[in-house]
Amino acid sequence: MKNIKTSTEILNKIKSNFIGLDTIYTLANGEKTKRVYLDSTASTLMMGAAYDAIEAFYDHYANTHSLLHFSAKISTEEYSWAHNRILTFLGADPQKYACFFTGSGTTGGVNRLARIFRDYRPERDTVLVSLMEHHSNDLPHRKHSGRVIHLPLDMRDTRPGCINLESVERELIKHKDRINYIAVTAVSNVTGIINPIYEIAELAHKYDALILVDGAQAVAHLPVKLYGHLNPGRNIDAFVFSGHKTYVPGSPGVVVCRKDILSAIEPEEVGGGMVDRVYVDRYTVKEAFPDREEAGTPNIPGAIGLAAAIEVMDQIGMDVIFEEETAFIHMALDKMKNVPEIQIYGETDCSICERAASISFNIKGLDHGLVAAALNDYYNIAVRNECFCAHPYVKEMIMDDLLEAADDFDIDKLDPEFILQKQGMVRASFGLYTTESDVDALVFALEDITLKKDDYKSLYVAASAGNYIHKTFRPDSRDRFSVRNFVADYLHEDV
Ligand code: ALA
Repeated sequence: MKNIKTSTEILNKIKSNFIGLDTIYTLANGEKTKRVYLDSTASTLMMGAAYDAIEAFYDHYANTHSLLHFSAKISTEEYSWAHNRILTFLGADPQKYACFFTGSGTTGGVNRLARIFRDYRPERDTVLVSLMEHHSNDLPHRKHSGRVIHLPLDMRDTRPGCINLESVERELIKHKDRINYIAVTAVSNVTGIINPIYEIAELAHKYDALILVDGAQAVAHLPVKLYGHLNPGRNIDAFVFSGHKTYVPGSPGVVVCRKDILSAIEPEEVGGGMVDRVYVDRYTVKEAFPDREEAGTPNIPGAIGLAAAIEVMDQIGMDVIFEEETAFIHMALDKMKNVPEIQIYGETDCSICERAASISFNIKGLDHGLVAAALNDYYNIAVRNECFCAHPYVKEMIMDDLLEAADDFDIDKLDPEFILQKQGMVRASFGLYTTESDVDALVFALEDITLKKDDYKSLYVAASAGNYIHKTFRPDSRDRFSVRNFVADYLHEDV
């Protein structure tokens, strides 16, 4: 019998059921411990419920282009449900918005949208892109959409690392009639700073620009509402996110876009499934969504798993998830601010600027690569370092540190090798499975590394940019997963 659970009960059930929370590795000191996974901004772990949903679905798996057998009908219905589930999750009216899957992450979706927006309004050749963007929400606009103008950020004095709304409006006025759209992330993948996307949308629409939001770092962490704002100017025209950052590795990237924009031009990609009729000299494109935007056989299990994860998150409530995760972000920031030699990037006063998921930092006097290597080898804490595919933003924020480390205040004189070694940060990032003990483990490790800087320096050699190698320790080969060995065991093991 089903016992309908409350949001808190579902959250508690789900939190501890992610695949990989029990992974054990052998450390440099010989201890075997559980990995502390603080790299969710790069890729989240797999939600157990979504994994189970995909596994159950495989019994019925079939191509959605097949029509009449039982499995084809089930596949097609569930795949269609996945699109609608994502639309309602994001508050996007299915009458007005289409959802379609592209590639394996946000990059494929932003490239598609850049070309779509270019073709939708070819008379407008300029795009405003914030300086905090991931390369996936910057380079596609540079390549496909004409001229990109980067929006400056607040730095140093007030709200460091935040988007400056006055500068957004200034650029909109200055380049009026030429700006096609603004491309902005909802949450920075470097600092975790949450951007005021609805205010930016209002500004964009005031000057007849469209808005494209990169939701890669937002969807799993906070509520999003694309449509139905009291002021329609605050609605979002197009939104993109990644399934692999939404607790379902192996699932596709997702685009949600206004149907009237998509309908106005021929779909960017052509092939099977998106056409009604094909003759040797012409073809007719389907009008129905998502079919017209999804040429070829899609990643059906990935999409279904993603929709399962979204169903779970929606049943918990994104406001509940946001509150839960925000508590850990605040706790980590407070504790890290007490470690004197940690430099945290971006505004750290959350009453001025709230954050989601990520905290990037450096320990004074240690390269980011050394800190990330030591966190892994001695504490089993998985973090990411370097520039997180957001070079302009990271560079802007660490320039002072770079100059200080160089002991030379002329940036032009810095050796490029030196810059590569120094330019970067360490990022700790959180997800639904993060616990207080994960935060404590991180803070304890950072305090320890800070106290024993010289010891750690003597244990490692700097290799290529951002990479440090331990002088003697090598990972235990028994900890190493190998597909080849897995298959060999599967095939040849006695049962
Ligand atoms: N975009 C991912 C990150 O920020 C990979 O780490």
